Amino acid sequence: MEKQIILTGDRPTGQLHLGHYVGSLENRVKLQDTHKQFVMIADMQALTDNADNPQKVRDNVIEVAMDYLAVGLDPSKTTMFIQSAIPELNELTMFYLNLVSVARLQRNPTVKNEMQQKGFGADVPAGFLMYPVSQAADITAFKAHLVPVGEDQLPVIEQTNEIVRKFNSIYGEVLVETKGVLSSHTRLAGLDGKAKMSKSLGNAIYLADDADSLKKKVFSMFTDPEHIRVEDPGKVEGNMVFSYLDVFGTNKAEIDEMKAHYQRGGLGDMKVKRYLLDVLEAKFAPIRDKRQEVAKDKAQVMEMIRQGSIAAKQVAAQTLDDVRNAIGVNYFK
Ligand code: TRP
Repeated sequence: MEKQIILTGDRPTGQLHLGHYVGSLENRVKLQDTHKQFVMIADMQALTDNADNPQKVRDNVIEVAMDYLAVGLDPSKTTMFIQSAIPELNELTMFYLNLVSVARLQRNPTVKNEMQQKGFGADVPAGFLMYPVSQAADITAFKAHLVPVGEDQLPVIEQTNEIVRKFNSIYGEVLVETKGVLSSHTRLAGLDGKAKMSKSLGNAIYLADDADSLKKKVFSMFTDPEHIRVEDPGKVEGNMVFSYLDVFGTNKAEIDEMKAHYQRGGLGDMKVKRYLLDVLEAKFAPIRDKRQEVAKDKAQVMEMIRQGSIAAKQVAAQTLDDVRNAIGVNYFK
């Protein structure tokens, strides 16, 4: 059987953090062995709300590429590329924009949420409002069957499939419907426990964090404010140290025992935090080391994405050709 195709990616607005890791990176590393995978650094999408700060986007392209290599995406299995290196995607976007209403875009829950977070209101950049359409172009250009992303992206995938169905019903069967792949832990809360981990909230642990910052962050995590003395009974719900242990811990029996002890009283926060730190070190120290290794030769990292971009462009160009032929905008053939 032909391998199924995956297209996915991230906006380069910052380094990737543990939320990205459990939300999708971990899945992608597994899936690269069984699927044909394309992973895109979505710099065009990042610019839709960073038009005034292109340097931030530019600087983070290589950061994200290094994060990808650090977690184990392997260029011999996964084609990694930069969105802006594939102008075909923009042309697809223009065709698809005619199949989507402004009202539908305004109703898209992902866009709506982000607009609220960013305080855009009616002054939303048009490019930002329509980014799900450009994302539909990304996904369909590769005829992707699967898209491993965090759950916040599911409405974008739904909108992609609406575009696919509308396109195919008008112009003929050219595009392929797609499916989101969620991980078992789709939402990792931030250190403060207030919301999901994100760069803008300053509550994130980055894959690039060194041992010292990881330690500081773990020791600063929100626990139970009423658990003051070691002998006091403590709460496990809403306690970030335990919720991280639920996600990253490997010894479930030991963790259950610690939870019971904590609830009874007699187990101090520092002990649990040290335990979590060991768990995170075991998991992420090798990733941090690999990242430091690849960071020594940034030219090689850029060369890897350049070659990926050449390969990706060929695939997108073929789809664009199919799309142009289907619509009949192919006058000089
Ligand atoms: N929207 C994604 C994010 O927020 C990035 C992205 C752009 C993407 N195009 C995509 C993800 C296509 C999956 C498929 O990071």
